[in-house]
Amino acid sequence: MLINNAVIIVTGASAGIGQACATTLAHLGAHVICVARRHERLLKLQHTLPGEHAIYAGDISDPATMPAVVALAIATFGRIDAIVCNAGIGLSMPVAQLQWDDVLRCMNVNVGGVLSGIQAVLPHFMANKSGAIVVISSVVGVHALPYSGGYAASKGALERLCDALQIELLGSGINLTVVRPGTVQSDFFSHRLGQNNEIRRTRSVGIPASQVANRIIYALTHHPRVLYTRWQDRLLLWGSACFPSLADRLLAKMIRWQEVDSVYRHE
Ligand SMILES: NC(=O)c1ccc[n+]([C@@H]2O[C@H](COP(=O)([O-])OP(=O)(O)OC[C@H]3O[C@@H](n4cnc5c(N)ncnc54)[C@H](OP(=O)(O)O)[C@@H]3O)[C@@H](O)[C@H]2O)c1
Repeated sequence: MLINNAVIIVTGASAGIGQACATTLAHLGAHVICVARRHERLLKLQHTLPGEHAIYAGDISDPATMPAVVALAIATFGRIDAIVCNAGIGLSMPVAQLQWDDVLRCMNVNVGGVLSGIQAVLPHFMANKSGAIVVISSVVGVHALPYSGGYAASKGALERLCDALQIELLGSGINLTVVRPGTVQSDFFSHRLGQNNEIRRTRSVGIPASQVANRIIYALTHHPRVLYTRWQDRLLLWGSACFPSLADRLLAKMIRWQEVDSVYRHE
């Protein structure tokens, strides 16, 4: 797929990875439909981007949002070439204290919102026998980190959904890539649901959102099935698959919960 002049929907474009992705795409000549809830941030972004773009302020977990985004894209640019399903929220809490309402909210956005986006573009992609879908998952979609159980469950569900879709799309001309970032520098951690009092010694190694954006461009142009943003993340998942008990012990040392003693050990 050529990025120049392509029409690409990016969800979660008001911040972090999505904003970096929309910016990179715009500088490469794409027409971007930027989606997120915060209208003023989208307006500001639209004014800074070179070229012609559209914005839509809405919650992707509302079933009406993504069909409306697709209608806007078709009305404005006449077609859609790709969608980057990036919008997502975190949830940080020991499993023992997880609130099911928070898990459901996470599922509604991270799985329901992505499903809604994919289902909204698929009729157009199928009619054109082409199109690219990029889904932003996470390394925790494969191997959970401590205190990320609710979030990991949503990304794990998303991964299985994409596994099935990958097979269903064979021979359709439509490409699907699942991107699995590790830690990325963004406001994601401060927006998480639950209590944000975990201590992650890995936090400092987070990569810039612009680096993930460049990987998303690679996904749109080369269509790999799965894409990592750092070789270390790929190695971590390989290691955790081969040596799961060792990986558990290492992760327990790397990531602590401030109140872990009172939650599990009553010390
Ligand atoms: N940061 C990391 O370390 C990391 C690692 C692995 C994977 N990821 C994944 O990468 C994606 C982007 O994360 P990020 O780091 O860029 O986080 P971020 O800076 O918090 O940005 C999240 C974006 O999603 C939008 N969003 C959240 N809920 C939404 C909803 N219900 N409807 C519409 N838009 C919504 C937010 O915009 P509004 O608030 O304006 O709606 C924002 O634009 C997420 O799927 C996340 O799970 C992040």
